[in-house]
Amino acid sequence: MIFAKAVITVLTIVSFATNPVLGWKDYNLSAVVSNEFAPGYITGLYYTEWSYFLKHLPSSLPLASITNLYYAFLKIDEENLLLHFQDPALATNTSIAFETQNLGDCVRQKYFYSSISDDWVSTFMRNVSTLTQNAGNRQLTSSGLLGQLSQIKSLNPNIRVSLSVGGAETSHVFRRITDSAKLRDKFAQALATYVHHYGFDGLDLDWEYPEEHSRDNLSEFMRLVRLYLDSLRPRCERYLLTMPLPAEIEKLDHYDLDELSKHVTYYNVMGYDMGGIWAKRALFQSQLYEDTSSESSSSVDNTIRYLLKDRHVKSRQIVLGMPAYGRSFNAKNLYDEADACANLSGIKQEPDECIVAYNKLPPEGYVEVFDEKTGVAYATNRKSGIVVYDNSKTARLKADYVKNHNLAGGVWWDSSGDTYAVNGSRSLLFSFVDQIGGLDSLKKSQCKINPDLYHGDFESLSYPEDKLPDILNVSGGNVIRPSLSFLGNVFVTALLFVTFQL
Ligand SMILES: *[C@@H]1O[C@H](CO)[C@@H](O)[C@H](O)[C@H]1NC(C)=O
Ligand SMILES: *[C@@H]1O[C@H](CO)[C@@H](O)[C@H](O)[C@H]1NC(C)=O
Ligand SMILES: *[C@@H]1O[C@H](CO)[C@@H](O)[C@H](O)[C@H]1NC(C)=O
Ligand SMILES: *[C@@H]1O[C@H](CO)[C@@H](O)[C@H](O)[C@H]1NC(C)=O
Ligand SMILES: *[C@@H]1O[C@H](CO)[C@@H](O)[C@H](O)[C@H]1NC(C)=O
Ligand SMILES: *[C@@H]1O[C@H](CO)[C@@H](O)[C@H](O)[C@H]1NC(C)=O
Ligand SMILES: *[C@@H]1O[C@H](CO)[C@@H](O)[C@H](O)[C@H]1NC(C)=O
Repeated sequence: MIFAKAVITVLTIVSFATNPVLGWKDYNLSAVVSNEFAPGYITGLYYTEWSYFLKHLPSSLPLASITNLYYAFLKIDEENLLLHFQDPALATNTSIAFETQNLGDCVRQKYFYSSISDDWVSTFMRNVSTLTQNAGNRQLTSSGLLGQLSQIKSLNPNIRVSLSVGGAETSHVFRRITDSAKLRDKFAQALATYVHHYGFDGLDLDWEYPEEHSRDNLSEFMRLVRLYLDSLRPRCERYLLTMPLPAEIEKLDHYDLDELSKHVTYYNVMGYDMGGIWAKRALFQSQLYEDTSSESSSSVDNTIRYLLKDRHVKSRQIVLGMPAYGRSFNAKNLYDEADACANLSGIKQEPDECIVAYNKLPPEGYVEVFDEKTGVAYATNRKSGIVVYDNSKTARLKADYVKNHNLAGGVWWDSSGDTYAVNGSRSLLFSFVDQIGGLDSLKKSQCKINPDLYHGDFESLSYPEDKLPDILNVSGGNVIRPSLSFLGNVFVTALLFVTFQL
């Protein structure tokens, strides 16, 4: 049995790599597999579905400065194992305005980046004017947020959009699914199907967080996800498979990183939430270096060095995660006890977490302090409130860190928090990109992706014919596969199928 499995696996790999008749002729496996190690830095942003209600649309993002977007989240119902977008109609259906006026922000970036190439800007602007002319006087629209994400890829084809599944408090449901061989397989298939069907470029698996118990089943699950993704991949680039990792070193022991690194493209290391109101004390949350004045030894640097030295993760698979938000405390000084959020009149905070968007900081009446030694910023009114966060100087320091350690790049949670062109010199993303070498130093697309999905008509996106239901039942029914465009896919999928039946 094991022998038969091995033979079929080898056959599958050989057919992947060598059989041009089956439709893989423009597919260079060695070039594709090594893609994550290609030159250029990544700049990623998590885009949340609920951003829509903050009037923050994908089309208002500074498209020139971004290489990766993560659509958060595809949810899994704990009770009935249904997999669905939080708001399926908003994700795929609602008619949403495409904010062309915001594309002017890209022009303003020309005056911000010292190193931007004129060629890049003029091509980009030509693309923008083609878009506006095509629309005439009509308001451009998108079908759903996913439609809009697909459209922005036509303006900057270097952007990759991944589907992020899970999110906070997802430990139980992930554990339940991955502990069953049947559900694990079903779930891996369903995720790959969602990614392919909706025209994403990859999957981001956000399990917060696996326990020791799940170490091996997580690896097995990720192996399956990678196999199914590869079996459905588009013509050229391999699907991305990414995974956020916690900053806490104890939690990292629950991941078999040697095994996972074979399947994962990038790890987004969550270099934030190291402090917060739950600790009942005003502490930093995203310090680059250890804060020697506090008892905590947490720092982004400690985690990254641990991953590189003790766990042998390749530096080009590590993306540095940064917050585009602050955390507030009702404290007079750092390290003071705190039991509630600071009273920031007029500024919205997430009440239990005391989270404030970076673009609202520093609050009125507060002084901003940059602590270069620790690599962090905070704002204080010296009476009753402190907010800890990253500012543009922190972003530059972290860009240098990424460069010096040859990491893959940076990623922010979440896209709605930054200032962007409203105040370019204050923007976290712009400062990071400028410091790392400008737009020309960002990762470029190796090839056009999903050419079948996007046909250049901004008002009608074509999804494969057998429409995937907006909700999938992981525990029952069949996962419906999207129609495959090549015989080769069918052949390989059949081989994979046989492999898993044995
Ligand atoms: C495939 O890609 C590798 C790595 O980029 C390259 O060395 C090789 O020449 C390519 N092969 C073909 C047939 O293009
Ligand atoms: C999407 O729109 C179509 C046509 O208006 C409608 O039939 C369908 O139910 C909608 N789907 C969702 C998830 O709202
Ligand atoms: C403009 O669009 C073309 C065609 O889609 C693409 O090849 C090119 O990279 C785009 N340029 C920029 C700067 O985004
Ligand atoms: C892992 O998955 C298997 C099913 O493949 C299951 O029997 C086992 O209990 C799970 N958990 C651990 C810790 O092995
Ligand atoms: C917060 O500050 C405002 C303005 O300074 C004040 O009116 C309000 O009473 C304060 N709220 C609390 C809960 O202390
Ligand atoms: C932009 O940010 C800088 C600090 O980086 C600040 O001094 C300036 O007032 C801000 N400008 C606007 C228009 O908010
Ligand atoms: C999902 O499928 C299982 C197995 O077929 C079934 O028992 C269950 O009722 C389904 N759940 C929902 C919500 O449809």
